[in-house]
Amino acid sequence: MTKSISISPGKVILFGEHFVVRGSKALVAAIDLYAKVEIEESSWPSEIISEGTEIRGKITADLKVIGSKELEPFAKILSILKSWGFQLSGFKARISSEIPMSAGLGSSAASAAAFSLSYANMLGYKLNDKELFTLSNEAEKVTHGNPSGVDSAAVTYGGILIFKKDVGIISRLNTLFSDKYSLIIADSGIKRSTSVPVRDVLILSEKLWPALSLIYDAADKIIDLGNEAISNGDYETLGTLMNINQGLLNSIGVSSIELEEIIYRSRLAGAIGAKLTGAGRGGSVIILAPSNKIENIIDRVKCCVKWASRIKISQTGARLISS
Ligand code: MEV
Repeated sequence: MTKSISISPGKVILFGEHFVVRGSKALVAAIDLYAKVEIEESSWPSEIISEGTEIRGKITADLKVIGSKELEPFAKILSILKSWGFQLSGFKARISSEIPMSAGLGSSAASAAAFSLSYANMLGYKLNDKELFTLSNEAEKVTHGNPSGVDSAAVTYGGILIFKKDVGIISRLNTLFSDKYSLIIADSGIKRSTSVPVRDVLILSEKLWPALSLIYDAADKIIDLGNEAISNGDYETLGTLMNINQGLLNSIGVSSIELEEIIYRSRLAGAIGAKLTGAGRGGSVIILAPSNKIENIIDRVKCCVKWASRIKISQTGARLISS
């Protein structure tokens, strides 16, 4: 039986998480950590296993999930494909992922995208990017409730993007990071939900909009300046903007003592910018540093993280690698 195999990159938000949910822009990059989904045709009920996790279960022919609730987004993808007129077939799926879950690195959007591509290919159909984005983002709605779409855009299209909710990709930055500077991800290992901080920030912004609107505007302006800094190869300014963005995220209540410790340790060890990435209150920190400081920084944060590592931008989004 032939297998359809797809991979999808994870993502890191350089600027604009949370603010993007209420209409500001976000600057996001796909990263070289990948989720892989292998699918082969089988009978109903279909089976999904996520390697190295407890997530496993079945989906019945009428799209009910038996087992882990984390499989609900995949049932949603199937129901959308059905509503698009596809005749669904039973299957066996195996998910394996280098992207840690609940770490702010887009693991759910990536698994949804790779699953969608593999499943559609099993049905003999090649999804286009727009369809792939829609399927991944609809799955994200099941996982997180109120996603802006930034994660699904990053994993679908790859590269460095400026994204706006309900508009989509505003621009794609074709600049490559210079070898002299690197991005490092430090994962606090503290698992957190996306939906709770997103809801809290929305409540806060409703309550104090006359003040918060200025913070949202500042976050939006940072993206214009960040875009300029990346295009000009001005990494010092890029780092300063990341630090300012972190201050804004702290002011809306999504940082934490553990994240601040990682951020300050990395700045003291030579980082020029460090901020939380994703929903916050746990998850990961993104660090910009001269490449000759990487080891020093990783050494200084290792007390306080689950892992820390240099990452690179993935210029391509989710794709079928074997069918
Ligand atoms: C999550 O990666 C980013 C948030 O802004 C939520 C979203 O945009 O969907 C916190």
